[in-house]
Amino acid sequence: MKLVTICLLWLAILVGHSAAQEDTEDEIIKFRDFKRRHRKTYSGALEKVHFRRWKRRKAIIDQHNLNQRNSFILGDNGHADLSEEEWDTYLLGLTLPKGLINKEEVVDVLAAGNVTNRQTSGLSLDLRSNPCMPPVKIQSPCGGCWAFIATTAVEYQTCAASNRTRTPLILSEQQLIDCSASYGTKGCNGGFYSQAWDYIMAIGGQASNASYPYRAAVGTCNFIKDVTPVAGKLSRYSSLARNETAILLAMQRGPIAVSIATNTRFVLYRSGIFDDDACKNGTINHGVMLVGYGTANGTDYWIVRNSWGTSWGMGGYIFMKRNVNACRLAEYAFLATV
Ligand SMILES: *[C@@H]1O[C@H](CO)[C@@H](O)[C@H](O)[C@H]1NC(C)=O
Ligand SMILES: *[C@@H]1O[C@H](CO)[C@@H](O)[C@H](O)[C@H]1NC(C)=O
Ligand SMILES: *[C@@H]1O[C@H](CO)[C@@H](O)[C@H](O)[C@H]1NC(C)=O
Ligand SMILES: *[C@@H]1O[C@H](CO)[C@@H](O)[C@H](O)[C@H]1NC(C)=O
Ligand SMILES: *[C@@H]1O[C@H](CO)[C@@H](O)[C@H](O)[C@H]1NC(C)=O
Ligand SMILES: *[C@@H]1O[C@H](CO)[C@@H](O)[C@H](O)[C@H]1NC(C)=O
Repeated sequence: MKLVTICLLWLAILVGHSAAQEDTEDEIIKFRDFKRRHRKTYSGALEKVHFRRWKRRKAIIDQHNLNQRNSFILGDNGHADLSEEEWDTYLLGLTLPKGLINKEEVVDVLAAGNVTNRQTSGLSLDLRSNPCMPPVKIQSPCGGCWAFIATTAVEYQTCAASNRTRTPLILSEQQLIDCSASYGTKGCNGGFYSQAWDYIMAIGGQASNASYPYRAAVGTCNFIKDVTPVAGKLSRYSSLARNETAILLAMQRGPIAVSIATNTRFVLYRSGIFDDDACKNGTINHGVMLVGYGTANGTDYWIVRNSWGTSWGMGGYIFMKRNVNACRLAEYAFLATV
């Protein structure tokens, strides 16, 4: 009896030891590669903290990628060693305004087409290659996604409406972050794209990034109405029906701003068509831009632009499954035009 107890105890120690998961040579090499790829350096004890987090995420990534049924794959991008609090603070920043009513104004677009959801399968549009689409930007470390969404719309629409040689405009998110607080935005602590557009329409336009550069932190407003040169303008915006066919039709006029619920797999996304049940019931916390659509391997998808640089996803973009309200993307869709 005593022997059995001792044996069991010994077994328990063995199991407990392997569960503590020592760092393998392979993990150490892969973490070194991760640091090199993303130019990460840590001081002192922080190295271990980041290594632990990266290891936890790498396990999620490897397990996900092993499952052949998943329509997308994950990767240890530059966010894989950050805490979830850091993701919230540095990468997101979408706050739905209180009492926001989805007015569903763009009924004319829907009526014009008589297109059913099924009929949109096989159609395609890709504004990534449009000469008016600016390069993908980096909001981090600032919870100001709302300013990046708002700006992409103004950049695209101003360029598309002009008769100049088509080169993308690069406008100032910083102006929105510093100056639009009275419209409900909170700098790097969240906001909503329509609040930024309300400000832009009231103040007369948006300065260029060159004249009002991005600083990833809130500061004093440096834009003076009728004095500071304006490089982009907007005249109206509409909220769209919660209907992905309506959104697709509205996109013939330009990219569509949407709000989504993100999760760990979204942050670690690398490629493929993102289709994740877990984010369907999530809290809306991020803003992104729909810039195209298509069908691949029998699945309809949206082409979605993020503001996390080109090393995230596919050159800064993600494909998200269409017609399933993926991550709630159809709920707060807006189109802005000049
Ligand atoms: C759309 O459908 C309605 C009702 O069926 C019809 O009256 C209208 O002419 C159609 N519009 C177009 C553009 O096909
Ligand atoms: C969206 O609108 C299209 C076109 O009017 C319609 O066929 C479809 O049923 C609508 N979808 C939903 C989910 O309401
Ligand atoms: C662009 O050119 C077209 C055709 O030449 C003209 O009708 C239109 O008014 C011009 N738009 C602007 C903004 O100058
Ligand atoms: C905007 O300005 C900042 C600060 O000068 C710069 O670092 C950044 O690259 C600019 N953005 C773009 C897209 O050019
Ligand atoms: C379609 O399937 C092929 C083969 O599995 C894959 O390589 C490709 O990435 C898929 N396309 C998309 C958009 O996921
Ligand atoms: C989301 O919520 C609905 C209704 O509460 C529930 O039926 C569904 O199972 C939930 N889905 C997930 C993925 O949690």
